[in-house]
Amino acid sequence: MSSAGSIPETMAAIVLTGHGGLEKLVYREDFPVPKPAAGEVLVKVTATAKNNTDRKAREGLYPVKDKGDVASFQMGGEPTLTFPRIQGADIAGRVVAVGEGGDTGRIGERGLLDFNIYATKDRDLNLMPDYYGHGADGGYAKYVAVPADQFHTVENAELADAELAAMGMCSYQTAMHMLTSAQVSAGERVLVTGASGGVGTALIQLCRIMGAIPYALSQPDKFDALLKLGAEAVFDRSDMEGFSDKVREATGGEPIDAVMDLVGGEMTNHFIDTMIFDMKRRSTYPRLSIAGASGGNLSEIMWTRIYLYQVRIFGVSHGTRAEAEQLIEWIRGGELKPVLHAAFKLSDLHQAERYFVDRSKNFLGKIVIVPDSEWAEHGAPFALSDDA
Ligand SMILES: NC(=O)c1ccc[n+]([C@@H]2O[C@H](COP(=O)([O-])OP(=O)(O)OC[C@H]3O[C@@H](n4cnc5c(N)ncnc54)[C@H](OP(=O)(O)O)[C@@H]3O)[C@@H](O)[C@H]2O)c1
Repeated sequence: MSSAGSIPETMAAIVLTGHGGLEKLVYREDFPVPKPAAGEVLVKVTATAKNNTDRKAREGLYPVKDKGDVASFQMGGEPTLTFPRIQGADIAGRVVAVGEGGDTGRIGERGLLDFNIYATKDRDLNLMPDYYGHGADGGYAKYVAVPADQFHTVENAELADAELAAMGMCSYQTAMHMLTSAQVSAGERVLVTGASGGVGTALIQLCRIMGAIPYALSQPDKFDALLKLGAEAVFDRSDMEGFSDKVREATGGEPIDAVMDLVGGEMTNHFIDTMIFDMKRRSTYPRLSIAGASGGNLSEIMWTRIYLYQVRIFGVSHGTRAEAEQLIEWIRGGELKPVLHAAFKLSDLHQAERYFVDRSKNFLGKIVIVPDSEWAEHGAPFALSDDA
């Protein structure tokens, strides 16, 4: 390993000790600092964005077979989450050391991690998604070792580290892969559900970059912010009666071309309605990309509706190296904007988890976790105000 200065032997970290409640997240100040292997860099973490997957992995909420299983990602066969594990996927920070033979010129660079643990070198395929903070240690710590080619330099002075973490790939790459899977093209109308969340706010921005027209489903307190972010119109998810008629009115009678569904549950049927209410007006197949289940993990959908209306369904997890690199280019070019709600100290992670789940009425976008030693510079400017 080569470094510019001395690297301590131990560090502060929040360690996940097993599946279960918040008590399984334990703050330690004596966790060993990882040593970067050849091909890796050691990053001093300045901010890590929170994602739903932290909670789901902790609680074991990724059943793929029997209902009720406690399970985590195991697409390659065995579950890759072992304990103790440091969670936190969307990491911004500074390179402080490189593994043997690495480019010492990178020491000091600021960057953002592409959070995937890719199973292969494929640029356009990611068949067994896994990620830092799950199959390997992540960013709820002072240091993390990650692949050098996935720690992408982003020096933009206008972006604070916390803001950079808020544009992490867990949300943005998933959003992009939802759109590319459904082959969304310029001019198409896209319904984005769970619109105020990390993935939803990324989808709205990405639709606009691609020239598509995003319609959002959210809650009234967030309408203005979502319109400002780029939504063409916003619908109230607490009032789903006559939903497709409301959409029809907003689109001037045109069906939605593709739905990006992060909500699932009973609502998915309403979302399908918005694409099929007038097939004569369509020139492409209806497309449904599914990447989340904030509203429920089970939906009852009539197969006849799917195959007679030829609804194309895409299951989406994470994305590809090529997509991550394109997103980094857009971040560097200023085309994507951070939607950062608040920062919390690492030692306050329990409080941050509760805040994330409870959701204040104006919660839009991401919250980030900042190591206590970095708080004054990278966290305090984004702390919650007293009345939030
Ligand atoms: N497949 C993947 O690779 C991948 C990657 C990232 C995330 N995900 C999943 O995608 C989903 C969204 O992720 P995220 O990071 O954007 O989450 P998030 O930041 O927590 O946002 C979720 C949003 O969903 C909406 N929502 C929450 N509960 C709901 C309910 N009961 N019914 C309807 N809407 C509800 C809320 O938006 P409104 O208030 O605006 O309605 C909330 O802000 C989660 O299920 C997450 O686990 C999957």
